[in-house]
Amino acid sequence: MQQPIIELKNVTRSFTRGGGLLGGTPQRIDVLRNINLTIKPGEITCLVGESGCGKTTTGKIIAGLLPPSMGEVIYQGQNLSQLDKRAFSSYRKTVQLVHQDPYAALNPTQTIYAILSGPMFRHKLVKNKREALRSVSELLETVDLTPVEDFIGKHPHQLSGGQRQRVVVARSLILEPRLIVADEPVSMLDVSIRLSVVGLLRRLQAETQVAFLFITHDLAMAKYFGTGGNLAVMYLGEIVEFGPAETVIGEPKHPYTQALLRALPEPDPELTRAKEPVALRSLDIPDLAALPSGCTFHPRCPNYMQGICDGDVPGLVSQPDGRRVACYLYADGRGDTETRKDLA
Ligand SMILES: Nc1ncnc2c1ncn2[C@@H]1O[C@H](COP(=O)(O)OP(=O)(O)O)[C@@H](O)[C@H]1O
Ligand SMILES: [Mg+2]
Repeated sequence: MQQPIIELKNVTRSFTRGGGLLGGTPQRIDVLRNINLTIKPGEITCLVGESGCGKTTTGKIIAGLLPPSMGEVIYQGQNLSQLDKRAFSSYRKTVQLVHQDPYAALNPTQTIYAILSGPMFRHKLVKNKREALRSVSELLETVDLTPVEDFIGKHPHQLSGGQRQRVVVARSLILEPRLIVADEPVSMLDVSIRLSVVGLLRRLQAETQVAFLFITHDLAMAKYFGTGGNLAVMYLGEIVEFGPAETVIGEPKHPYTQALLRALPEPDPELTRAKEPVALRSLDIPDLAALPSGCTFHPRCPNYMQGICDGDVPGLVSQPDGRRVACYLYADGRGDTETRKDLA
């Protein structure tokens, strides 16, 4: 079996809220709790969940921009916190992050040529301007920014949002990463061009076999991008369902996944009208600083079983079809991994 690129083992991340200038007593909030996630070479993983559930924090931990508070991040068999400088620098090249905002990601004072050739010179991938021009041109062609002459001398503000995000994607490819963490890569783009950028990412994935962690709050995007890969559904800092995207989307098991899917419009308006939303018991998302006991979805869950769901935190349990679900409807919820160790 191929060695994973990255493994998160029981990763918990806490932040302190309040105190300092804001006044009040500082409070520790556990934004991510006991996350276990393995990303293998060439694999597509979609991470989906409502805004604020911890997706970006997970992406940052995987990209090495944020350390976990507890648990381990394993890179090619080694604990990230114990890598020496050289190994850490190799890791930072292996894992590239593409985030939401292509405006913020590009230096407004540089031309596209300077933006893309900078890392090439820094990492000694090119020796002179002639080589750099050739490599930058190839890269622009790869991300469909053609004819190249129309883009290479321009500044970011002269491009559209979609074109800028293509430049960001091009830059993420320079060091030939093995994993790209794409955090809501199209959510700031016009709806009309989202699919073309996601299509580009899929094509690059197929061509280069780079692994993808595709983060989105939009299940429709996950459905489109994630075909053939895995889907992780996150709720309030925990993964509640994980499995092959087709299985999870085709027959969601966790009531939260079911609710997300029922809210999704169908291409056929008739079908959309016929779909009944899941009747949640509450629309309020609980505060991370005051998490409900047991399954954190229980105050909203239509299948809530008193005395069970509000007891212990359910663990992710493997199902016969290969997925894992953290829900007492499907097992005793104790989990088959050590995912839900008591939070000390
Ligand atoms: N640096 C930080 N300090 C304090 N709280 C943070 C910080 N970063 C994120 N959070 C909190 O962590 C939670 C998860 O955030 P995030 O990972 O950005 O969620 P998502 O990407 O799913 O919208 C949110 O409640 C957010 O307010
Ligand atoms: Mg986010």
